[in-house]
Amino acid sequence: MSDATVTAPKIAARNIVKIYNHGTRNAVKAVDGLDLEVRQGEFVSLLGPSGCGKSTFLYMIGGFEKPTRGELLLDSQPIKGPGSNRGIVFQEYVLFPWQTVYRNIEFGLRVNKVPQQERAERIGKLVRMIGLQGFEDTYPATLSGGMQQRVALARALAYDPDILLMDEPFGALDAQTRSRMITDLIDIHQKTHKTTLFVTHSVQEALLLSDRVCLFSARPSKIKTIFEIDLPHPREITEDQFVAHERAIMESLEVEVSKTIALDKVEAG
Ligand SMILES: Nc1ncnc2c1ncn2[C@@H]1O[C@H](COP(=O)(O)OP(=O)(O)O)[C@@H](O)[C@H]1O
Ligand SMILES: [Mg+2]
Repeated sequence: MSDATVTAPKIAARNIVKIYNHGTRNAVKAVDGLDLEVRQGEFVSLLGPSGCGKSTFLYMIGGFEKPTRGELLLDSQPIKGPGSNRGIVFQEYVLFPWQTVYRNIEFGLRVNKVPQQERAERIGKLVRMIGLQGFEDTYPATLSGGMQQRVALARALAYDPDILLMDEPFGALDAQTRSRMITDLIDIHQKTHKTTLFVTHSVQEALLLSDRVCLFSARPSKIKTIFEIDLPHPREITEDQFVAHERAIMESLEVEVSKTIALDKVEAG
């Protein structure tokens, strides 16, 4: 294998521009000149002011939106549309309410025509991984938000995707549940080594989870700074290096948030 093959990034975004409603009076430039490379197995957080294009970038990688300009590659191939090599978890728990936990997780396996016996084995493993043994026959509405989000995560993992795309998945959870979910996600990442892109507005969440934290600028956004977080897990939020990273990221983020507030005011007239 050549060096190029070994080091080829899992995801490569080169000079991405995204303009919604391009060429109309309602054109919105969400992203302008975004560059990012993500390595196989890496956990990368995307952080930035509200409305700066984090979800937009995730949806482009998911194949639900197309870049207006620039090059967006997955395994060195242009992304043409959605696919089961990418698992997605949203902030809202998008489970099928009329199906049990088991059937919800099974969905991707049925789509991919995995045989019955293997389906049962894989679902058993996933249910243990997310700690929901005994809830297989339960319906989503009777579960807490945290449990529903665990099911959503298991369903995304059931496809055995190469990449996990998570858009503020813990945003609607209470602090205690969120903290447990973070611990479990670190554990799952260490077991599965899925390349993960994780959108959050929480600096602490990003710091607890990530190999790198990408700070987006105010819209139209590009990546302003990438912070390498070279700390072992489990991380301690009171630890000196953690606090130092937190302070640096907060300072940089606040500058972009202020710019965004000014922009919002101008646009509101
Ligand atoms: N479907 C759409 N049509 C038009 N504008 C959109 C659409 N989706 C997002 N936008 C705009 O693009 C910008 C980036 O949005 P988004 O990616 O949701 O930001 P974030 O996830 O960082 O909060 C915002 O100004 C938003 O209003
Ligand atoms: Mg968003």
